[in-house]
Amino acid sequence: MNVLLFNGSPHKTGCTYTALTQISNTLAEEGIASEIIQIGSIPFRGCIACGSCKKTGNGCAFGKEDGFNTLLTKCRDADGFVFGSPVYYASANGTLISFMDRLFYAGSKALAQKPAACICSARRAGTTATLDELQKYLTINQMPVVSSTYWPMVHGNSPQEVQQDLEGLEIMGNLARNMAWLLKCIEQGKAVGILPPQAQRHHTTNFIR
Ligand SMILES: Cc1cc2nc3c(=O)[nH]c(=O)nc-3n(C[C@H](O)[C@H](O)[C@H](O)COP(=O)(O)O)c2cc1C
Repeated sequence: MNVLLFNGSPHKTGCTYTALTQISNTLAEEGIASEIIQIGSIPFRGCIACGSCKKTGNGCAFGKEDGFNTLLTKCRDADGFVFGSPVYYASANGTLISFMDRLFYAGSKALAQKPAACICSARRAGTTATLDELQKYLTINQMPVVSSTYWPMVHGNSPQEVQQDLEGLEIMGNLARNMAWLLKCIEQGKAVGILPPQAQRHHTTNFIR
């Protein structure tokens, strides 16, 4: 089993990375492999609604040039996900949102019904608004949201400060153990024939009346 942890921060080894590392290390203790993927340094453009991903089923129109399609392939093979962001103006950071718009539009099937969590790092405020924003991607896509003993955030302006946020790091560890438990339950369930349900999609009613 493998979990992908996406770091939306431009700081490769900053605060968000510190929190993700705590999750990754705890997953390893639970026998689950994981990989931290540095998203925040890649100049991902936003979705331009060209619809090419839906027409071709081959990923995003810009996916070859910025590496998006390679990441989409990785998602198909992964069992769980963590999306991590620094808080920017009480929201997730823009690069991560550009990536997630494209990932969920072009690759919803690669993610659906796989457990996932969102975490954030802030100096001071905007954390719950950021988590609300990020978790909406999961909850429109049939993904079990992995939670912890508090809303999953750390506080700090530097990795050293995050290391002092002992409760924040403990929350990340608890989140990882919950993720590991859920992944093992899903795997055991599959082994005895308990498969994810087939979603019904008979209706698409836009708000036109
Ligand atoms: C453009 C920008 C906007 C920010 N906005 C906020 C904010 O609204 N609230 C907050 O507490 N910290 C804010 N910060 C601070 C970062 O969220 C904080 O330092 C975070 O832990 C950095 O994580 P990183 O090292 O992974 O990038 C902002 C930082 C930047 C660069």
